[in-house]
Formats: sequence, C-alpha cells, structure tokens
Amino acid sequence: MCGIVGYVGDKPAVPILLEGLKRLEYRGYDSAGIAVLEDQGIILEKCAGKVSALENLLKGRNFQSTFGIAHTRWATHGEPTDLNAHPHMDCKKNIAVVHNGIIENYRSLREVLANKGHIFTSDTDTEVLAHLIEEYYEGDLVEAVRTALSQVEGTYGIAVVCKDNPEEIVAARHGSPLVIGRGQGENLVASDCSAIIRHTNQVVYLEDHEIASVTREGFSISTIDKVEVTPHVQEISWTLDQIEKGGFPYFMLKEIHEQPLTLQNAMRGRLNYDEGISRLNGLNLQYEELHHINRVILTACGTSWHAALIGEYLLEDFASIPVEVEYASEFRYRSPIIQDGTVVFVISQSGETADTLAAMKEAIRKGATVLGICNVVGSTIARETDGGVYIHAGPEIGVASTKAFTSQIMVLTLISLLLGRMRNLSLEKGREVIDALKKIPEQVESLLKNDSYIKEIAREYYKKNNFLYLGRGINYPVALEGALKLKEISYIHAEGYPAAEMKHGPIALIDENMPVVVIAIKDNVYEKVLSNIEEVKARNGRVIAIATEGDEEIARLVNHVIYIPRTLEQLSPLLNIIPLQLLAYHMAVLRDCNVDQPRNLAKSVTVE
Ligand code: G6P
Repeated sequence: MCGIVGYVGDKPAVPILLEGLKRLEYRGYDSAGIAVLEDQGIILEKCAGKVSALENLLKGRNFQSTFGIAHTRWATHGEPTDLNAHPHMDCKKNIAVVHNGIIENYRSLREVLANKGHIFTSDTDTEVLAHLIEEYYEGDLVEAVRTALSQVEGTYGIAVVCKDNPEEIVAARHGSPLVIGRGQGENLVASDCSAIIRHTNQVVYLEDHEIASVTREGFSISTIDKVEVTPHVQEISWTLDQIEKGGFPYFMLKEIHEQPLTLQNAMRGRLNYDEGISRLNGLNLQYEELHHINRVILTACGTSWHAALIGEYLLEDFASIPVEVEYASEFRYRSPIIQDGTVVFVISQSGETADTLAAMKEAIRKGATVLGICNVVGSTIARETDGGVYIHAGPEIGVASTKAFTSQIMVLTLISLLLGRMRNLSLEKGREVIDALKKIPEQVESLLKNDSYIKEIAREYYKKNNFLYLGRGINYPVALEGALKLKEISYIHAEGYPAAEMKHGPIALIDENMPVVVIAIKDNVYEKVLSNIEEVKARNGRVIAIATEGDEEIARLVNHVIYIPRTLEQLSPLLNIIPLQLLAYHMAVLRDCNVDQPRNLAKSVTVE
C-alpha cells in the first residue's frame, strides 16, 4: 500500500528511482511522483496514473541528480489526482516528503498550520507533514522530523529530503514498513526489498518509532526519543529473477505455475516419516508448551483469512483442538478472551497488513502466545511474534494471492499434523498424511497442464456478470477463495457459499445466466453436493464442477467437469483451488483487465 523509494549515491538517481517504483507498483498504482535535487533546487514531478505515466512525463529531460525520493500511491485521503500524488512539499519548496500510512489527526494539524499561514495545495493527510517539518526546521533535518512526528497520531513510513541538506534522506517508521539498503558508496530506502535488490542484498529493517539519517557514506538510526540504535544488517536471500516475470505475461500466472515448487519448499525438511510427524522449530515452543495448547485462534485478512478457515478444519480434524477464526479487523474490537493455553496464529503473506498487525498487538497485550505464519522474511509479524513458521513461497507480486494461499494451507497442515501427533492422531494416519503431502506438488503440476481446457471454459463464460461458488466442509473456504479471485481480478460479481446454504437464499438468483462452480469431489458429502447440483440444474443454472478423477456420473449431470487427482479429503483444497485460480485468471485476461494490478486493490494494505 503505497511504495516509497529513495536513493543517495553516485549514480543518476532518476532511473534508479523509476525502476524501484515499478517494482513497488503492486503496492499501489493510482499516481506516482519523484523529487530530486538539481542545481536550481528540488525538482518535483508527479501525476495521476501508473509509474509509466510518470516515466512519460520525465522522458527527454536531463537530470543530473544522484539523490532523491519517489512514491507510488494507493489513495486514502484525497482522490488520485496530480496534486494529491506524492511527494508533497512545504511552502518554501525546500522540503519534500513521501509517506505511506495515515496521519489520523491531520485535520487538526492542518488547521493549526493554516492559521499560522501555511498554504496547502492538496487534499492529502501527508501534506501536513511537509509543513510541520518546515515549521520546526532550523538546519537539522533529523531533529525537525523528530519534533514533527511527536505531534502526529497515526501510522507512517516516510522519507524526507531538504534542499539545504543535499545527500541526506531522513526516513522514519511507525506502522508502515521501511527498509534501508546498504550499498557501496550509495544507500537506499524503500518500502520493501524488491525495490532495492538490484543494488544490494544488505538491508536493515527499521523498527517502529525509529528515525534514520541516510547519506551516501552510511546511515545512523535513533529512536524518536533520541536513543541511538545499533543497526542490524541482514542479507536478503531473494534474487532478482524471483521478482521478474520469467516469460509469463503476468506475475499472477507465473505465481500460479510456481506452486509445485513453492509447495515443495513449504514442506522441505519439515517432515519426519518415521514418526509420522512434522518438525517446525520456528514455533519456539517446548514439547510441554505445545502439549498445553487447548485453544487456537486464527486471525488474518483476505485470502489469508480463507487459509485460516481451512486451518480450522485441519486443526480440529487432526488435533481435536477447538479453533476460532476471526477477521483481524474484527478481532481487536471484540474483547477477545485469551486464557491459559490459548495460542493465536496471525496469518499474513506480507506480514505487514495493518489490521493483522493490530490483531497481533491486541493478542500480545492480552498475554497470548502469538505465532506468525508469513511469507516475507523480516516483516513486522515475523519480528514481533513469539515464533512462527515461514511459508517460503518467495516474493509474491501479483496483487491477487495464489501461491501464498496454498503454502499457507501447507503450513497449517504441518502445524495440525504436529499438534495432532502429540495428541490422538495415530502414527499410521500421520504417515498417510505425509505420503499424501509428498504427492501434492506433482498433482498440482498435472492440474496446471489443464490450462487450455480451463481457458476454453473461461471463453464461454467471461461475459457473465455473476457467479456462484459452492463447496462443503473443508472445501467451503475454497469456494470463498475461488469467488474472491474472480471478483478481485475480473470485476465479475461472485459469491462463495456452503453448498447446502444455497437453498436459503442464493437459489433465488439461479437461472440460465448464473454459472455455478461446484466443488464436488468424492468426499463424505459427495451425494449431498450432487443433490445441490440437481437443484441448480432444475432451475436452468449452468454448472462447472470440480470433481474427482474417474467420476463419470457427475459428467452426465453438469455442463463442464474439471477433474482433480485423488488425495486425502483434508488435503483436497491444495488441489481444488488450482483450476479456480486459472479460471479467474483467464476470465480477467479475456475481459482485458490488468490481472496483476486490479483497480482499487493493493497487495499489502498497511492502513486500517
Ligand atoms: C490485500 C491483498 C490480498 C491479501 C490481503 C491480506 O487485500 O489484496 O490479496 O490476501 O491483503 O494480505 P496479507 O499480506 O496479510 O496476507
């Protein structure tokens, strides 16, 4: 949600900033801007639209600057217009600020500043920061930023430059991630590592309430209360290849096709066949503590919340532990009851979603053991939880989550297996699960080969306006996720329902214009789902079924069947979601949508 990049070094800054912005565009892409220091002062260029629009604006211009900041925006306060794009400047045009987050008390700050004569040119909350820093600036930019931030309520990741301090970027963080990249004779600041990995793999993650002064030679970090901080430099293991499209037209398609590998990575080194159990050292819990768990709360947003719903079935089934799943945005406002033995898992691909962070903090405050399941190494959730499990899916760039979802399910399966084997799950069952898990990557690979058939189905339905997705049991969340994928990227209205609930409302919508995707694998509710399909057919609905390989009976009943290899019912979501991801992808492409950057969405929502 909004991308920040800053560069100070000996190379021309503009191409580096533009390239960084493009890599961050998945975070927000409704407007973009840049501020660089040239001989005549700070040059500010910004416009509504994607980074390519900014690039066009700068084309043919000759910039000398080796120092600057840039931003790609996802609007919160003020429409995505040229004026509202970042950077924002003070009255004297000496100071430029880019900001990610929300300044909650900006109205009162703006009023005070306006009364002092400051002139505002945008509708954004961010602009108050530029004027506030101007108000306190007396030659020391770090001090001015520090004092300004002490007046601010809300969240921020900011980068600030000042005409009088050439070659210093001041960065600060509270709630919105920022990372410093350490280069040789150059240093960078960014919202995340993807913007800087071309230049360095040495990074320092800023913590909340920290301010950094970044220059060409180095950087120093202190807290907002002026306590010096020793930077902890970490090495990023991602490569540039991993964040490029590798021949696929879209990141989303690349990421769908990576799933055989990412699922393998999620379980690599974590299975012990002899004992029929998994090994998850990152949980940081002793045997007694794991044994002591008597209740689990899973909290997350979006696709990660759907993974949590699947986790609920898995934990209850394998480990017989009572589980609650809660939207992170609701959890913190609910007075959650945390007792001895309650463990809270916060699930997040990015590890930075504001609502999930707030839920994490609430759970920590209430004294729960809080564990993270996330993808981005070094993210806030990874750092602030008691322990956790990385899903190791590699960078996910497409806004609609795909490979992170399946890897989250994989990790939840491993956690359920571990806790199950410490309770009543038999060795035999544990080994059966491991055997089935090992086949999953290959089975996903075989499903991906169905791509052209799924594209044909998409061609038949892409002009429809509504879709219904039905599933039962552990595949009900898969129906929700299938519907979410479709609406996110194709803007077709789609709803997911437990199949049996259809008769309590959605059935009223069914006619020949309502395609219904039904997950109807051979599980213990198969016959009942067939009855639901009959109900749809009786009302002329069109049915696309996800069914078990070899099931010919269903083929006679429905309009299209997508066959899924056999696996354990508990692992079936890992396979059933694959064709639904592909179906959503093809429909969106046929509708000419920008699959990787759907309108109004952002990959990482760092505002509440
Ligand atoms: C945004 C993204 C979704 C994602 C959700 C939670 O809404 O567009 O794809 O599922 O945030 O993100 P997280 O990083 O916490 O999993």
